[in-house]
Amino acid sequence: MSNTEQNTQEEARRKIILSGARPTGDIHLGNYFGAVENWVRLQEEYECFFFIADWHALTTGYAETENLHEHTLNLMADLLACGLDPDRSTIFLQSQVTAHAELFLLFSMSTPLSWLERCPTYKDQINQLSEKDITTYGFLGYPCLMAADILAYKADFVPVGEDQLPHLELTREIARRFNHLYGNTFPEPQPLLTKARVLPGTDGRKMSKSYGNTISFADTPDVVRKKVMGMITDPARIRKDDPGHPEVCSVFAFHKIFNPEDVAEIESMCRAGKIGCVACKKKLQEKLLAFHKPIHEKRTLLLQDKGQLGDLISRGSEKAAARAAVTLQAVHTAMNIGV
Ligand code: TRP
Repeated sequence: MSNTEQNTQEEARRKIILSGARPTGDIHLGNYFGAVENWVRLQEEYECFFFIADWHALTTGYAETENLHEHTLNLMADLLACGLDPDRSTIFLQSQVTAHAELFLLFSMSTPLSWLERCPTYKDQINQLSEKDITTYGFLGYPCLMAADILAYKADFVPVGEDQLPHLELTREIARRFNHLYGNTFPEPQPLLTKARVLPGTDGRKMSKSYGNTISFADTPDVVRKKVMGMITDPARIRKDDPGHPEVCSVFAFHKIFNPEDVAEIESMCRAGKIGCVACKKKLQEKLLAFHKPIHEKRTLLLQDKGQLGDLISRGSEKAAARAAVTLQAVHTAMNIGV
């Protein structure tokens, strides 16, 4: 067997990973440690498809599309700057692969309304986003679109957060129903719940754009420094020599991630009241920037050439479309669609 033949077989055995992110703004450190860091690692081992879910953004944001294009480019720049590699993974834009829409339509024919209505995230979101009217057909059908995203590539594993598990369960049900109606076509994808590193926001709550407590890769080093200085520490520490409680301090949670070599010393000094919060934040600033700055600079550079960034997205989308077309062909055959 020649080397290339061997490599081709190797490729054929690689399991397929697919995941997506909505272009809702800039990637922040919470997104990075919650998902993107993992994606970068998964590229080593799997055949990966990562996509920008712009149609998904419309399910809740159909009335505010003015920033969609910009957010799409920003997300692409963020993903590349964080280490997703277009030579290794297929990185693409959902709306450039219309096979997703076709598969969504076909799945919508056989997906019972009751499955969608009982999806726990459906009612949750309707209540939570009460200021928006998302009692729409598209929002209800969102899990069907997600099933199309995943099944178009016959993904084996889908790295997702726990909040997405009900959707993945629905994807499996949709695949099962399709296989039952038209013959075995789709594998049932499994979630990949890898342990994510948890990083709180600057105020100690979950890092989230809606809380205004994020540090994003779009932030300049100056902004990052200011945000670190404004971080909420142990509220019981009034004076610098009061004993601190690192377990309730967001600065300490950051040290654990960005400064592992000094974390034990910082913990004991804090508990003993021997290091003040300002000094502790200063130490963090430099460690955090050592990680943040190269990514910030790379994303800034990438965004200077939007044409090139757009080309990268289009090339990835062409690769994805070629793969999805193979699946759609099998779907047509199974359903007896066409001439
Ligand atoms: N629903 C996901 C989110 O809101 C994004 C998404 C869309 C996705 N399609 C997907 C994730 C397919 C994994 C697989 O975050």
